[in-house]
Amino acid sequence: PDLEAVRSRLIHWYDRHRRDLPWRRTRDPYAVLVSEVMLQQTRVETVLPYYVRFLQRFPSASHLAAASEDEVLRLWQGLGYYRRARQLHQAARVLVERYGGQVPPDPEAVRALPGVGDYTAGAVLSIAFDLPVPAVDGNAQRVLARVFGVDEPADQAAGRRRLHDLARRLVDGPRPGALNQAVMELGATVCRPRRPGCGDCPLAELCVAARTGDPEAWPVRRRS
Ligand code: ADE
Ligand code: SF4
Repeated sequence: PDLEAVRSRLIHWYDRHRRDLPWRRTRDPYAVLVSEVMLQQTRVETVLPYYVRFLQRFPSASHLAAASEDEVLRLWQGLGYYRRARQLHQAARVLVERYGGQVPPDPEAVRALPGVGDYTAGAVLSIAFDLPVPAVDGNAQRVLARVFGVDEPADQAAGRRRLHDLARRLVDGPRPGALNQAVMELGATVCRPRRPGCGDCPLAELCVAARTGDPEAWPVRRRS
């Protein structure tokens, strides 16, 4: 499918259908970082109250950096994956020590923060700064594999590389932050793992998997 057509349909759909979530009401890079770290392994509904409390108590990287680890962990209690909390706390301290308490609009610097992998870096850089950096989570992998009919397994290096390459080309256009979030949001709400809602999908006419009549056959799994 034509990348330009995929981009414009995704962004148009996202502007109409995106869920109103507290981290979508800000482009403060620190708030985006907090939300993306929380969303790494935890569902949106669970994250909501934690995100709100966390930003009330720690409204900036400086506030977070000045807190004790005990207090940070107490606010994280119930979210799980406590290593994320410790690393986010460390990241805030790096931001204060090296960057005046601000997230720098610099891919290398963001990627080097504790606990920040390719996904989180791409999300922060695209959402907060509109930089054309891909952010490929599991939902995005599934959407891209289906739309482009990627036949390499997504759980192997070659498939991940193909998907990442597609995401990189796709995000290299207008409104990278909206584009990345549109792909993830489509995967979370329409292009579900089972019984995807192709009838409600803005990409249905372009989608390789939908055309076959068996979209669930993607993402292709490794033969076992
Ligand atoms: N999952 C994690 N972060 C997201 C975002 N910013 N938009 C949609 N889904 C997400
Ligand atoms: Fe997913 Fe169906 Fe949309 Fe293709 S048309 S992206 S399979 S929901």
